[in-house]
Amino acid sequence: MSRVLFKDLTKVFDKNVMAVDHVSFEVADKEFFVLVGPSGCGKSTTLRLVAGLEEATSGQIFIGDRLVNNVEPKDRDIAMVFQNYALYPHMTVYDNMAFALKLRKSPKKQTRQRVEEAAQILGIGELLGRKPAALSGGQRQRVAVGRAIVRNPKVFLFDEPLSNLDAKLRVGMRAELAQLHHRLETTVFYVTHDQVEAMTLGQRIGVMKNGRLLQIADPMTLYNKPVNRFVAGFIGSPPMNFLEGRIETEPLRFVQETFTLNLPESLVKQLAPAQGKKVTLGIRPENILPSDGIGQNQGIKVWVEVAELMGNENILHLKIGQNVIVARVQAHYAPKTGEILNIQFNTDKLHFFDPENEATLV
Ligand SMILES: Nc1ncnc2c1ncn2[C@@H]1O[C@H](COP(=O)(O)OP(=O)(O)OP(=O)(O)O)[C@@H](O)[C@H]1O
Ligand SMILES: [Mg+2]
Repeated sequence: MSRVLFKDLTKVFDKNVMAVDHVSFEVADKEFFVLVGPSGCGKSTTLRLVAGLEEATSGQIFIGDRLVNNVEPKDRDIAMVFQNYALYPHMTVYDNMAFALKLRKSPKKQTRQRVEEAAQILGIGELLGRKPAALSGGQRQRVAVGRAIVRNPKVFLFDEPLSNLDAKLRVGMRAELAQLHHRLETTVFYVTHDQVEAMTLGQRIGVMKNGRLLQIADPMTLYNKPVNRFVAGFIGSPPMNFLEGRIETEPLRFVQETFTLNLPESLVKQLAPAQGKKVTLGIRPENILPSDGIGQNQGIKVWVEVAELMGNENILHLKIGQNVIVARVQAHYAPKTGEILNIQFNTDKLHFFDPENEATLV
């Protein structure tokens, strides 16, 4: 079994930088787990704690059933792929990939077989004789992954392995990593600041901010039921729109400086504590719809600030009073900059947050 278990793990760097703040969670056996969050939130530190490259200030880390806090990095049975790949420049691809096995004094024949197998999986068989300087970014990335594969570790640790690749290659490699996980059936602990990467790769995702884990969930739960405004805004692209206003009743409605939105009966109970109070409304771009302007809630007037026509869909930046919201609409709906439109919000897909502590109300 190759789970990774964190029990109340904390890492404080000198000068009192709390990089990882009392974190408890489990990366399950054979799971592809992604830790995502903005720059500086503590992702790499968490990964490096698993690898043994940093020492925990307090708390425990288990790999399988073994407490590894005091186990040497080389004895932890993990393999890490770094953002910058960290290949040995003076060695060939073959030697880079074989390096860990040579250290382990594996038999030569077995080493060759493992390296060739990994090279074949990754499609870099022809490159084994080259040095890293003679490789493209994508090829170097594959070598770095290959070097991890040959070690046949209990857990793969990936630290933003795709961030040096151009957008197209990144999408390709993302799919390859997903396939690789499927094929190797090994536990993967992957960190990235890119929420698209997290959503597409992670079976479960942990969202981190300032060293704290805010929410752990599968991608759809994270998208549909974020625990707070930060998670709601971090997951999804273009991000969720937020509007400040207040809740009034009879009938239940969200009142904002330029419009009033009648809310469905189904929300009465959930919004009861917010009656008469300020709230933050959240709505995702795909839940803002063009409207004919007729009927209740059918006519929020907006001014088109920018219309980005993408071919398959259009992204509209719409001005409502002092606020700008972003809508994602079908391609045939292509208003011009400066036009006045009627829109409606899909009231089954609204989110509400407490403006003070940012916790989710609905
Ligand atoms: N060796 C160190 N000494 C002191 N502070 C450090 C050290 N390493 C990291 N930090 C601090 O710890 C915090 C978390 O850093 P970490 O590298 O884990 O962030 P990250 O989430 O990986 O960010 P990024 O997305 O930019 O890679 C940051 O505030 C960083 O400045
Ligand atoms: Mg990092």
